[in-house]
Amino acid sequence: MPAVTVEDLMTLPLIPAAEPGVADRAVVSLTTAPTGFEGEGFPVRRAFAGVDLKALDPFIHMDQMGEVEYAPGEPKGTPWHPHRGFETVTYMIDGIFEHSDSNGGGGTITNGDTQWMTAGAGILHIEKPPEALVTSGGLFHGVQLWVNLPASMKMAAPRYQDLRSGQVGLLSSADGGALVRVIAGEVAGHNGPGSTHTPITLVHATISPGAQLTLPWRPDFNALVYSLSGRGSVGAGDARRPLKSGQLAVLGQGQTLTVSADTQQDARTPALDVFILGGQPIREPVAAHGPFVMNTRAELVQAFEDFQAGRLGSIPAAHAGVSGESN
Ligand code: CO
Repeated sequence: MPAVTVEDLMTLPLIPAAEPGVADRAVVSLTTAPTGFEGEGFPVRRAFAGVDLKALDPFIHMDQMGEVEYAPGEPKGTPWHPHRGFETVTYMIDGIFEHSDSNGGGGTITNGDTQWMTAGAGILHIEKPPEALVTSGGLFHGVQLWVNLPASMKMAAPRYQDLRSGQVGLLSSADGGALVRVIAGEVAGHNGPGSTHTPITLVHATISPGAQLTLPWRPDFNALVYSLSGRGSVGAGDARRPLKSGQLAVLGQGQTLTVSADTQQDARTPALDVFILGGQPIREPVAAHGPFVMNTRAELVQAFEDFQAGRLGSIPAAHAGVSGESN
């Protein structure tokens, strides 16, 4: 679990302990992510499967990619494919992904980096492990999240943000037992590097065995806690509910959220790692199919027609010949 690690958490800014009497968010639903395959066949867990879109708003879809230890020759990526109407956020924890898009964006993301791509009106992109990693094999673990855009921004010009691990906001829980990485938005006055179209907070937290993390969380945001690995619980006091690897907790109203790591963890996953996300709901109709997220069915049909007609961009000349279509 590299992402970003810190030797001594007490050197980081501390998240103040919650004021007494503050309402902590309770678990509304707990679901277990089914496994599947994405792109050319890399293993994923569908974190949001079975959860009502209204509870997820402004998020649409989330895959935990891996964690998988590839043998030489095994690492896989995606073929070229289009998107319109939303943003794809790819956060790498372990391993390397190379990406390029029809808008000229591209690069390599690794341990703790995030590729934040606003598809807007339309873009084509490809994500794949670099040649050296295909040859060597190795660990691959990350998260891909789809963030919706409001109607007024669905046809905006595509935008690309390259967020490096060194820019991530780092905080420690009040007891020094949890490392909080703020990728986007704000926690206790500390900002992450991601610039978002609607207000959102994205956090990756590592909680040591027996430690408890209470985060202040904007009351107008929804709150989702997904366990990447390890064992623990969500909620405070009598409202605590167990949380295992691959489970998503949707939380109700309140001003804080609390996640605790069990004292006993597996040797392979010595801490509880959670992805915590929330944002201001967009509250618009969602028409989503394959790689497009629009407001109406007619706009989806238009998106497919525009893609077929080449209006979502074309594969850069340097990559011509490498083509294909994904979901
Ligand atoms: Co994509």
